[in-house]
Parts: sequence; C-alpha cells; structure tokens
Amino acid sequence: MKPAIRLATLLLSGIALWPASSFAEVKSLAGVNPITNPLAAPKIERFINDKENIERTFEQQPPLTPHRNERYTINLKENKCLECHMKEEGKEEAKSVAMGESHFTDRAGNKHDKPVGARYFCTQCHVPQIDAEPLIGNHFSPK
Ligand code: HEC
Ligand code: HEC
Repeated sequence: MKPAIRLATLLLSGIALWPASSFAEVKSLAGVNPITNPLAAPKIERFINDKENIERTFEQQPPLTPHRNERYTINLKENKCLECHMKEEGKEEAKSVAMGESHFTDRAGNKHDKPVGARYFCTQCHVPQIDAEPLIGNHFSPK
C-alpha cells in the first residue's frame, strides 16, 4: 500500500471506531427548551438629520455626525463627505465645519493637502445617531 492510502485507511477506520456516545455529550448552552416567546423585532429608527452639532463627551472624541449619512458614498474614486467638509481651492471656508489639521497629518508628522489614508474612511470614526432611549444605562461622566 502507498503511504498516502495507508494513512487514509487508518484515518477512516479511526472514525468508524469512534464511540457514538462521545457525540451525544455535546449540549447547547441554551438547553433544549423550545423558543416559545420570541421577542418582537425592534422598531427601525431613523437617523437624526440636520440637528445642532452634538456636544462631545470627552476630549479627543471624534464628533458624532448630526445628520444622516447612509447615502454618502466613500470609495476609492469618491468621498462624498469631502464635498462639504473640505475647503475648496480658492475658497476660505468649507460648506460645513472643516476637518481639523489632524486629518491632514500622516504618522510621520508630514502635512498633506488631502485627508491622509488613516482618515479617509470617515464613518470609521464619525457615526450618525438615532433619538432613542439607550438600551442599557450607563453612568459615564467626563469629569
Ligand atoms: C451636503 C453637505 C454635507 C455632507 C455631504 C456631509 N456633511 Fe457632515 N455636516 C454638514 C453640516 C451642514 C453639518 C452641521 C454644521 C456643521 O458642523 O458645519 C455637518 C456636521 C458634521 C459633523 C459634526 C462636526 C462637529 O464638530 O460636531 C460630523 C462629524 C460630520 N458632519 C461628518 C460627516 C461625514 C462622516 C460625512 C460623510 C459620510 C458627512 N459629514 C457628509 C454637511 C454635510
Ligand atoms: C481615525 C478616526 C477618524 C477618521 C477616520 C476621521 N475623523 Fe474626523 N475627527 C476625528 C477626531 C478624533 C476628531 C476630533 C479631534 C480632531 O479634530 O482631530 C475629528 C474631528 C472632525 C471634525 C470637526 C473638526 C472641528 O474642528 O470641529 C470634522 C468636521 C471631521 N472630523 C470630519 C471628518 C471627515 C469628513 C472624515 C473623512 C474624510 C473624517 N473626519 C475622518 C477622528 C476621525
């Protein structure tokens, strides 16, 4: 017999001889109770739109986005957020509040004209909000 075939035969006979009882011992952590009372799906809330900027909770917090953003595409070719949050050439102001210097500074401390790679995917840090009761209370205080 070739070594590979010999190994396969050995493995197969191993499985065949495996005691059936060892499989039966696997138990679900949830127990065997049937789910009789499933919770209703939560209501789908809308993101708040065009509200005042939201107060920051702690220093260095990426400010929360006070408007909806699901339709603002961010990919290699375009970044819709920049249309409002970036100063255009020749204009003093952006359409909205402009990004801080940190967004144009790379890890080595060099300044760039465009947001650096680590700040390109805005929604990684800036998230929109819904106006809903928190699911779980918390006692965080910034001071
Ligand atoms: C059509 C214009 C427009 C686009 C596009 C846009 N924003 Fe805004 N954004 C605003 C306006 C207006 C405000 C509120 C006033 C302000 O801060 O200038 C704002 C506020 C914000 C703030 C709050 C700033 C602060 O200091 O509290 C964040 C964060 C933000 N936007 C992130 C984003 C992100 C991320 C995207 C892309 C997914 C985006 N915005 C796309 C217009 C826009
Ligand atoms: C890695 C996290 C991160 C990413 C990605 C990021 N930001 Fe920020 N952003 C921050 C933090 C932290 C602050 C607050 C401190 C600061 O200004 O650096 C901030 C501040 C801002 C502000 C408020 C500036 C001010 O002076 O009040 C705007 C507007 C903003 N970001 C927009 C954007 C946009 C648009 C993008 C995408 C091109 C983006 N950010 C990507 C973390 C991030």
